[in-house]
Amino acid sequence: MILAKLNEYIGEEIEFHCWLMGKRSSGSIHFLMIRDGSAFCQVIASKENLPDDKFNTCDHLQIETALKIKGLVVKESRSKLGFEIHLKDFTVISEPSEEYPIPRKPSGPDFLLTKRHLWIRAPKQAAIMRIRSNVIHAVREFLDKNDFFCVDTPIFTSAAGEGTTTLFKVDYFNNDVFLAQTGQLYNEATAIALEKVYCFGPSFRAEKSKTRRHLTEFWQIEPEFVFADLDSVIKLAQDMIVFAIDRVLDRCQTDLKILERDVSKLQLIKPPFPQITYSEAVEILKKKGFNITWGDDFGAPEETEISSNFSKPVCVHRYPIKIKAFYMKEDPSDNQLALGVDFLAPEGYGEIVGGGIREENLKILEKRIEDENLPKEDFLWYLDLRKFGSVPHGGFGLGIERTVAWICGIHHIRECIAFPRTIDRVRP
Ligand code: 4AD
Ligand code: MG
Repeated sequence: MILAKLNEYIGEEIEFHCWLMGKRSSGSIHFLMIRDGSAFCQVIASKENLPDDKFNTCDHLQIETALKIKGLVVKESRSKLGFEIHLKDFTVISEPSEEYPIPRKPSGPDFLLTKRHLWIRAPKQAAIMRIRSNVIHAVREFLDKNDFFCVDTPIFTSAAGEGTTTLFKVDYFNNDVFLAQTGQLYNEATAIALEKVYCFGPSFRAEKSKTRRHLTEFWQIEPEFVFADLDSVIKLAQDMIVFAIDRVLDRCQTDLKILERDVSKLQLIKPPFPQITYSEAVEILKKKGFNITWGDDFGAPEETEISSNFSKPVCVHRYPIKIKAFYMKEDPSDNQLALGVDFLAPEGYGEIVGGGIREENLKILEKRIEDENLPKEDFLWYLDLRKFGSVPHGGFGLGIERTVAWICGIHHIRECIAFPRTIDRVRP
């Protein structure tokens, strides 16, 4: 029995486990705010419905007391869930040993992050975690339904996948290895074996930037498939995002209400997504007075400006090859450009997807690795993929936290993972 489903029990007596979140009293009635893992709700404890000793105990219950309660589910239109509970009886399972450290009045994020292990119980934080779970389930289901195999890729890696500036070095039996920045290079190997694959796991980047979009440990889902072209990569990412949003709209209405999310903005997210080239994006920025020249990469202000012109994610494709990773394929019609794409989410959430077509030509790839001063010996296995059975292929990575932040309308992505890791935070 969970709170979120109790509307099926209106008029019935039920019993379930919960925690006390808050309380106010007015003489013969206590209003208890309780939560379980699914939602929160008001419980009315009145003198007339409870044995005397129990009614008096209510006076002393402290925040975060664990309870088993028995009560009647009563329709109440002012409640987010559409009902409240009239208490008949309860037992205390555990009492706090000291006062709950998170006060009822709003606290700042720095304090709350030090208490993250407790803060995740707050209704909004729990709602974000439930939506995250639904998003992850949906994107995996989408890929499974489209005949992709989940193949897990290693976390300890010998080489950089996404540039050498954000590597986390680990001492691996007296050798340096790095925490994975991406599973992509390994996905490219498994894709030649299985044709359509994805990995889902954490990515690590020593991001020194303190922005609302950067974590040092974030989760990506990365599909990779053979005989891909840029259009098919874009379509897959677009359809996956739409599938995830439809799922959240379908299953997470209460959580979206808790978060006060304007769902009309999410309801607009239907195919097709707008597409513009990098060069067109630069023109948009110049018109808006940005001091940018062709060849510059976009930072957060640029991404926000570009995406503010669209109500759906905008697919920006064909970036200058110089600002993209070594593995990106040149555009055959202009060797200055890469067959890559970034999806910029609306409402200022920035890049949620990065992907494209991989260079499949051995000679060009060898030269790119050399030009970028990457240690060739670490890429020998990767180059083998171009020697044997090489075919056009591509894919993308969708950042889970940024996607969840956008869907939930949460300002900072650190609230979209249970225990965020940033440049200045590894505790709790
Ligand atoms: O654009 P990125 O760096 O692409 C890759 O890692 C590719 N190898 C993916 C692929 O083609 N298989 O990262 C992909 C996505 C970004 O679009 C963004 O959503 C997210 O991962 N991301 C981050 N999220 C939070 N914190 C960070 N520091 C992030 N860096 C990237
Ligand atoms: Mg990117």
